[in-house]
This record gives sequence, C-alpha cells and structure tokens, in this order.
Amino acid sequence: MAPGKADRVLIFDTTLRDGEQSPGCSMTPEEKLRVARSLAELGVDIIEAGFPAASPGDWESVNAIARQVKGPVICGLARCNRDDIDKAWSAVRDSTRPRIHVFLATSAIHREHKLNMAKEEILKTAAEGVRYAASLCDDVEFSPEDASRTELEFLTEVVQAAVDAGAGTINVPDTVGYTTPQEFQETFEHLRRTVRGGEKVTFSVHCHNDLGMAVANSLSAVLGGARQVECTINGIGERAGNCSLEELVMAIRTREQVFGVTTGIHTQKLYPTCRLVSSITGMPIPRNKAITGENAFAHESGIHQHGMLRHASTYEIMRPVDVGLSRTNLVLGKHSGRHAFRERVRELGFELAEEELNKVFTRFKALADRKKELFDGDIEALVLNLDTESGGPWFLAGLEASSMMDGRGQARVLLRHADGRESAARSEGDGPVDAAFKAIETITGLVLDLRKFEVRSVSGGEDAQGEALVTVQHEGRTHRGTGVTTDIVESGVRAFLEVINRVELGRDRQQALGEYRAARAAQAAV
Ligand code: KIV
Ligand code: ZN
Repeated sequence: MAPGKADRVLIFDTTLRDGEQSPGCSMTPEEKLRVARSLAELGVDIIEAGFPAASPGDWESVNAIARQVKGPVICGLARCNRDDIDKAWSAVRDSTRPRIHVFLATSAIHREHKLNMAKEEILKTAAEGVRYAASLCDDVEFSPEDASRTELEFLTEVVQAAVDAGAGTINVPDTVGYTTPQEFQETFEHLRRTVRGGEKVTFSVHCHNDLGMAVANSLSAVLGGARQVECTINGIGERAGNCSLEELVMAIRTREQVFGVTTGIHTQKLYPTCRLVSSITGMPIPRNKAITGENAFAHESGIHQHGMLRHASTYEIMRPVDVGLSRTNLVLGKHSGRHAFRERVRELGFELAEEELNKVFTRFKALADRKKELFDGDIEALVLNLDTESGGPWFLAGLEASSMMDGRGQARVLLRHADGRESAARSEGDGPVDAAFKAIETITGLVLDLRKFEVRSVSGGEDAQGEALVTVQHEGRTHRGTGVTTDIVESGVRAFLEVINRVELGRDRQQALGEYRAARAAQAAV
C-alpha cells in the first residue's frame, strides 16, 4: 500500500561521489563546486560531496563544498574505520548541516572474498563505526554494501546494530544492480516491520543500473517505505550508472497518485542541471534519454503531430516547461541588449552571478559578430562553457588550417602561455583537426592518446555552432574537453586545449602536493 500523501521523499544526490566514480567522469574541484551550487538551486536535500579519505584532492573538494554551499546537508563517505571517519568529519564539519555516511559490505560474497570477515566481526565493526561517527556528528547514515545480495536475516541484524549504535538513516544499496522491483519493495517492508526503533530512522534506497532497473527498483523501495532516494544527475555512476535523479523525480511527480509522495525538487531546473553535468563530465545526454534527451518531447509521425496540434496531452504526459525545457527559439542578435540577454539566460534556467553574466555577455557579443542569429542552444552553450579553457595555462592565440582532397590536412597553431611566452608550430596530419592537435602537442610537449573526437551542432541556421568533444587517455587517466564555436576545427582545437590544460593543472597539483608532503615530513622530523 502506498504511504500517506503528505510524505516527502528526500533526494540524496551522489553525482559528486558515486557519479564521479564512473570512468572518465572525474571533475576538477572548481567544477565540483559549480555542480554542488546548481544542485542546491535544484533543491536536493543532501549532497554527497565525495569520499574524503580517497585522496587529499577529494578531501579539499568536500571541504570547499561544506564551507561554501548553503542549504542542503553536506555528506562525506567513509569506510567503517576511525581514520576514514575522522577524515570525513574534518571535511564536512564546517557545513551548517554536516553528515557522515559510513559503509561496510555485508553479503557472503564480500565477506568471504573482499573483507575476509565473519558475520560477528561485521556486526561489531559496523556498530563501532556508527558509534564513533555518532560521537562526532549528529547526523550519521549507514550503508550495508551489497545489501541486495545479503541474507535477509543477517541484513536485518546488521541494520539493527547500526540503528542501536545511533544511525539516523539506513541506506540499503543494490550495489551491483541485481534486485527486482518486487523483491526490493519486500526488503524495505521487512526491514521497517522488523527493526526495533525503525520508525525513528529514515530508510533510504541506493540502486545501480546494471539491468536497467535502477529507477524502477528505487520507486518500488519508496512504495515499501523508503523516504530517501540516492541518485545522480543523468544517472552517471559506476558501470551502468546509478538511479537517474531526473527520471525518478518526474516519475514521482507525474504518477503522484501511485506513489503518494512528493519531493522538494524545483523540476524546472532539471534540464539546465543535467546539461551542466553533461558538459562538465563530457558525457553527452543520449537523444532518446527520458526527460532530458533531444527526442524526449519531439513528435515526428504524422498521427502524433496531428494529435499534438489538437491537444498536447494526446502524446505528452509531462509539459516540457516542467522539466526546464522552455525553448522558444526566440532569436537574439548583435543588437540585442544586456537586459534581453539576461532575461533569456534566466528563462533557460541558469542563475549567474553578475561577474559571470558580464563574461558570458562579452562572449555573446563576439559570437553575434560571427553569427547572424543566436538561438537558445547558442546561449546555453555560452553559459555551459563559461569555464572552458579560461583558466589556462595555455590559450589559443591563432589558428590556420586547411584540408586537401586526399584527406591530408595542415595546420599552424599559435599558443600563448600564462607566463607570457608565445609559441607557434606547423604540422600535417589526417585532416586539419589531427594536424592542429599535433601542432599543439609539439608546442606543449604533451603527447596524449586520443580516444574519441565527436562534433555536434548546438543550434540552428547555416552558421550553427559546432560543439566538439575530445576524450584522451594520459598516464592511466581519462580526460575530456569541450569547445564550441561556429568553426568545427576551432571547436576541436579549443576542446583539445582544454584537455591539455587539465593535464597540466593536474601535474601542477601533484607537484604542489608532493612539495607540501615533503615539507610536512621535514617539519615532523625536526
Ligand atoms: O553502491 C554502493 O553500495 C555504494 C555504497 C557506498 C552506498 O555506493
Ligand atoms: Zn553505489
């Protein structure tokens, strides 16, 4: 039976932790902060900002979000040991609403092959971890990892131990995307019925999408009494990803009678938030993706178009504006003023600080000189690429490229470094883009393993802007970059330069970190 109507489901966003764990989705600390701010505007209740013990960089990011992002609870993940819990606490304690999330695997497979721990030891470790976290922080969440493959009786014992030790939220993860809707609903009903003191805790669900059922399983858990759902923007996450926030929220809203619950999400912000995360992670939103894909509200067949013209509800169960797709394709041009521009940015769902708006408006004017008409897609691309390449250290100062009939190409690239020096190189390659990439590698001395190069149009008209997406591998890590201009070779070059800058900054950070550690070690030795 569906719970009461007044029930509110908390939305716990783990884009910055589980989402970031998906291959090629790593984000810089600045990007994480930008995503966290937009999640707060979206209205999520809890932001899992990262796993502070994973690396000093993770700790820094979680701490920056805890200090600067107001509104949602800021949560840090920790394994069930004192060192991890201390690191999570020191990272989130500056938040006005901190949470520590401790986890320990409970299934027989994990006990035997990963932890080499007996059941009694798991019970003791879970209780000690939760008790220690609760001695530091008022808000503690516990997750029995691989819960869906854990014997139900033992799962109940572990959850009981965590509740007795002071956990206020019990999260039940389907770590490997194995469960089914009916099975998971029954798991939640069982736990709520059986665990003593269960009425005082919030039961939470965390589903992976290995069998494509993460959203369905999460919704079933809600029917079974879960009142927190853990999800990610665009469903990014380990392997096939996590439960997609936008799909879950719109299902709850569209079928309110079935689920009998509400969320605090401002659904009109869904589309801009999904586009932001897509642009930062370099993971494009598939055309046919529910809620936010390009085709989600497109009607091509004659019968459907006819029905739509009569009444939108014939073939639409949600209104595009409700998910933030307020595209009017109102055209702006070089005579459009600052006021009209600001209004359009706002209507598209973006909140920009004055300084950011100034920067985007300057780029808008420059683009309007090159392109007669600017559509919503152009403006969106300008806002989303606010940070692209802007931090340097390498900046594009000149580009000449040409191609030949036989597929060969030539390019001359001029780069300016933040330290003031300028360097140029000329190169040949398989087409002008390849030639330009080689010239950049010659100048910077960085040779990258190019894995993917994609281009798509972001707006209409003959002079449409092309967005280039570059994916490279360097020293075991995947990096992505994007570039948007009216010239696809230039877009490619800007995307490649963004990747070069990311690799350079990563190196600088590593070096700075190494120096810092050496200094600390020297101090300790005195
Ligand atoms: O999938 C999982 O089990 C997790 C836990 C850490 C909650 O991500
Ligand atoms: Zn997970």
